[in-house]
Amino acid sequence: MADSLDWTHSDLGKLDLAQYNAMAEAIAAKLTKETGAGRLPFLTMPYMTDLRQHLSELKTYLKQFDHMLLLGIGGSALGARALQKAFYPQQDQPGHTGPTLWIADNVDAYALEAYLGKLPPEKTVIVTVSKSGGTIETVGQYFILKQWAQEHLGDAWIEHMLLVTDEEDGFLRGEGEQFGIKALPVPDNLGGRYSVLSAVGLIPALFLGMDINAMIAGAREVADQLTVPNLSGESLKKHASFQLAAWAAALQDKGFDEMIFFAYIPLWASFGDWFAQLWAESLGKEGKGSQPIPAIGVTDQHSVNQMFMDGIRNKACLFLTCPTLPAGPKFPTNLPDQFDYIRGKDFGELIHAEGLGTRMALSQHGVPLVELQLGEDCPKQAGKLIVLLGAATILTGWLMGINPLDQPAVERGKRLAKARMNAEGLAEEKADLTTFLTADRDIREF
Ligand code: PA5
Repeated sequence: MADSLDWTHSDLGKLDLAQYNAMAEAIAAKLTKETGAGRLPFLTMPYMTDLRQHLSELKTYLKQFDHMLLLGIGGSALGARALQKAFYPQQDQPGHTGPTLWIADNVDAYALEAYLGKLPPEKTVIVTVSKSGGTIETVGQYFILKQWAQEHLGDAWIEHMLLVTDEEDGFLRGEGEQFGIKALPVPDNLGGRYSVLSAVGLIPALFLGMDINAMIAGAREVADQLTVPNLSGESLKKHASFQLAAWAAALQDKGFDEMIFFAYIPLWASFGDWFAQLWAESLGKEGKGSQPIPAIGVTDQHSVNQMFMDGIRNKACLFLTCPTLPAGPKFPTNLPDQFDYIRGKDFGELIHAEGLGTRMALSQHGVPLVELQLGEDCPKQAGKLIVLLGAATILTGWLMGINPLDQPAVERGKRLAKARMNAEGLAEEKADLTTFLTADRDIREF
């Protein structure tokens, strides 16, 4: 069964797409220029041959560990989690015995204490993932885990560490060089949220035993059409990523400033969090962009769906389905009459019926919707989806006239937090903090 996009209920006819289609030639030329100059490794993947070699060397090394503790945040963690949840559900199910991946992507003292107290040091590999090599939430945890490994393993601590970081720069690269820690590169121009198909996502995927080659093949299938030399505007217009981008940009013009990502593949729910970060950090700029809302079918039918259906009419939806999900057990045949409509049917039939019902109801409530239908819920489709949505995000940004590859606004909060911790310099931020904290307070107990 083919992977496809169903545009039937996308409201294309009500949107002004002409202005964006008219930009296709220029956008295609920009794509050709950027990929040619090596500035979009997300699509060209020039690092892949070396990476495959590194991964095949790592395979045996990783087999000696039962636990992988991944330290990373944002784009350095969300892709790995999406792959973990989609393709290694065993870890969340009863009777799990295989390898276990823990992702520490927060400043969570409870979780960190548990890792330190309960992970067996001899059977644990600590993978620190940070493109910049200096993100305090990640590097802060690295310091604590480094000390823990040194205390428990002595000189062997180095053998339990893996770094994934910039090829040349940053604190972690220096650590790798100083102590001889194995370090894999995050290639230049590959920002966190676009990096899941590099060592960032593939090392944890390899540890869990995922079919990485199939995922890369799927990714290539979608990316290759965008990286042909001298891509024409006409070819670009036929590509699903451009069609999604033109749709998203035209929706924003009409006031649709929220984009739901409704995953009706339960194990793929974490792709919603991955997409949300990709979309928000790439497109929330200069007062523009649409707010991504990850939602899980069918769970969120009993939660936020009321707002989707009958709240402010500002929402569009990407609706992820897969008709070939497992059928699961059958409902018993001796059910009470009020449940006669499910007697003897497959449990799995329910999710398709509920997905259809929700799609139709959303569409009848004025939510423009594109259904992303995957032929199978396999690694190949994950690769295709990652590139499709990543490329659609980049192209949406270009159509909106913003840079989808940076994230300047989030830097302010990071600098203020460092100032609060009394980092050197940052005089302006320290003064601003004082003003903020000494302003008249309005505090009321509850
Ligand atoms: O997508 C991004 O670029 C960000 O979310 C980063 O991944 C995140 O800030 C972590 O950065 P780093 O990988 O440099 O530690």
